This record gives sequence, structure tokens and C-alpha cells, in this order.
Amino acid sequence: MNSKSTYKLIGPIKQLIGLEHLPVHGPLRDEALTSIVNGGIITHNEQIHRIGTFSELTEEAKNVKAELIKLHEDFVCVPGFIDAHTHICFAGSRAKDYAMRNAGQSYLNIAKAGGGIWDTVTHTRKADQQELAEGVQKRAHTLLNQGITTIEVKSGYGLSIEEELKMLRAIQSAQINTKADLIATCLAAHVLPKDFDDNHQSYLDAISNILFPILTQEQLCNRIDAFIEQGAFSPTDIYPYFKKAKAMGFDITVHADQFTVGGSQIAVDIGAVSADHLEASTKNEVNLIAHSNVVAVALPGASIGLGCDFAPARKILNTKGALAIASDWNPGSAPMGDLLTQACILGTFEKLSNAEILAGITYRAAAALKLNDRGRLAKGKLADFNLFQTDHFNEIFYHQGKLTPAQVWKRGCLVSYKNCI
Ligand code: NIG
Ligand code: FE
Repeated sequence: MNSKSTYKLIGPIKQLIGLEHLPVHGPLRDEALTSIVNGGIITHNEQIHRIGTFSELTEEAKNVKAELIKLHEDFVCVPGFIDAHTHICFAGSRAKDYAMRNAGQSYLNIAKAGGGIWDTVTHTRKADQQELAEGVQKRAHTLLNQGITTIEVKSGYGLSIEEELKMLRAIQSAQINTKADLIATCLAAHVLPKDFDDNHQSYLDAISNILFPILTQEQLCNRIDAFIEQGAFSPTDIYPYFKKAKAMGFDITVHADQFTVGGSQIAVDIGAVSADHLEASTKNEVNLIAHSNVVAVALPGASIGLGCDFAPARKILNTKGALAIASDWNPGSAPMGDLLTQACILGTFEKLSNAEILAGITYRAAAALKLNDRGRLAKGKLADFNLFQTDHFNEIFYHQGKLTPAQVWKRGCLVSYKNCI
């Protein structure tokens, strides 16, 4: 926190895309991306004080005694990106799984044969909290340089009370050394641990009765996730687990319909904040989600990593759903960890407008995390924004992730920059 009140005027900015008034639900045409030409931003400490044209802000800057950060090249400014679904707290590599999948084995078969999630659990359990925290910091640093200023991070490779706590404490301590905001989620219901010699129900009971109160006590997270899938947890297992979590004040998010359907129904029934994956969703599930308040989160990185279909993003939007896009960065199904590239690729396959791609990784991703204070550039929102060295926003998507931000601003501070040409 700044103890001193400081204002900064950043500009002039060739195109400033604030997304202030765009809806959370439904399709968006590119014409909706109204921009301020030759604009600027006045920040006040961590927040946006005002956006407008550079000339009107120059007047206002005098009143508030803002420091001028003058830009000398053409820049396009967009809100800081939000990756609403990652698993970047892990140890080990699953390069072998990847090779096996490409050689024809399925994700679920590799898991049954002892690879898959359990392999990462074994490595993650061997790592201590400090090592895990360093891994999170390193990956968060990579993401921040790509313009991702808020990162959701799941546990789920511990799969016991102590080991899940170790992961969530590692995420909490990683926050001290990264400028990106980390939003932790408990995914203790990822798969049934192989060394738990009882059934799914008693595992979930142990987690909800013992782990949940500690999460609240230590303020480790306020979100609970579960993987609803064959070989993981069934809808019948998970419904009472989510009910308990909700009654204790947690928000719910679901790994839903990745290979088979069932998860999205639970997401809607329980009133989850988001349902993520949805690669297997049919018309029925699309309708269910789109007519609810659950944000659909497409994870193109998992489709690319596994060689599977993409989530039906176009249909979700056309049915008036809210569509966010996240990387799912994890060592198994989505090892790439490049949100903008993946969102652009999803756009080419699912025929998304640039506005829909941008909304999916900014304010719609904020909605998937129930965060109201970011994802758009407007007075009172966090001063999280990216400056791309180009003269038109279309260039950002056209380069499919190869054009990265020249400057990343987080909570009113320049946290990453490249020398401009
Ligand atoms: O979102 N589907 C389940 N969980 C992760 C993958 C985790 C892993 O393979 O390690 C996912 O794709
Ligand atoms: Fe995931």
C-alpha cells in the first residue's frame, strides 16, 4: 500500500480500449470495442482516477499534481489480462504423458496406468512448501510478462489434508514475491488419492470437516473446486460436498464436462460462479449454462494439450452465455501456459470476434472469479493495464500471442517492460 497519495498521468495512448459498458453475457461485435483515440489514464495509487483524451487529462493532471509518464510511441492500451483457471502450483514434469498421448494413449488410460494427475501428486508431495512457492513465483512472473495481472491458482496435487494445506500455504506465500494478484482455489476433490483406503464419500467428508475450517481460519482461499468426471468424482459424490462448502461461505467452481457430461448440471444446481472446460457439452448443457448466472470458462490450452475438441464457445455466446477464456496451465493436460495465444487460437476455431476474445480474458474472466474491481478501465477500478506497441487493437489478436505487451501496469505501477523500437 502506498502511504503517500500519488497521481500519475500516462499517455498519450493511440487507442485506449476500456470495455467499460460491455455486457457480461452474450455475443459482442468488434464495433462494440469503442476506443479513446489519443487517450490517457490518470492513476491514483492503485486505482484508476480517470480515463479520457490526453488533452483533457493534461488539464486535470495539473489539479491533482500528477506525475507525467509521457509515452513517445504508438500504444494500444487494454485492461490487464486475468487467467481465471490455472494449476501453476506443482512439481515435476509430465513430458512422458505428453509423448504417450501423441503416440495414441488416452488421457484417462495414462492416468489408470499410474501416470496422469497421480504422477504430479507424487512429485508435489516430495517438494517442500518453499520449493512449491518458488515454482508459483516463477510461473507467475512468466504470466505477468505476458500481461496477466490476476492469476487464479488451484491446489489439487496434494490430496490429503496436510498436503493440500502445504500447497495452499505455498500459494499464499508466493503472493509476497509476485506483483500479480494470486487467487487461490482448493481443488482437494481433484481425484481420489490412491493411498486413501476408503471411499470417495469418506475422503470428501474428511476434507470438508477438517480442511475447510482451516482454509477459512488461515484465509488460504474462499473458493472450492471439484473435478466431476469418470475416474474422478461423480455428481452424486460432489453435490453434498459443494452444499457444505457453500453453507460455510465458499464460492464454488467446477471442472465440468471435460470428457463426459454431468458437471455443468451440478454447477447450475449449486449456483457455482463458473463451470470450466465444457469440451463435451452438448446443446443441452450449453442451454443450461447459458441461461444461468454461471460463467462458462473455455480452456483451449487443454484442448491443444490433449488434442481434443474446443469448448463450444460460439454456441455459448449465441445462447447468451457469459464466456471467459483461461489457460488451465498445468503439467498434464495444458503444459503451454500462454493465455493470449490460446485465446486467439480458440477465436480462429470457434469464430470469436476480437471483442469476445478480449472480453473473455478481461472483465468476463473477472466475473468468473467474482471480482468486481478489475477487468475494465474505469474510475475506481484497479489500475491494471497493458500497453502494446502498435497502432490498432486488431494487431494484438492477429499476432496470435506473439505480440506481447511492451508495458504491464499493475495496481498503478509499471511491473514489466520491454525496450521499445
Ligand atoms: O483442468 N481435468 C482435470 N484437471 C486438470 C488437469 C490436471 C492434470 O492433468 O494434471 C485440467 O485439465
Ligand atoms: Fe483445470
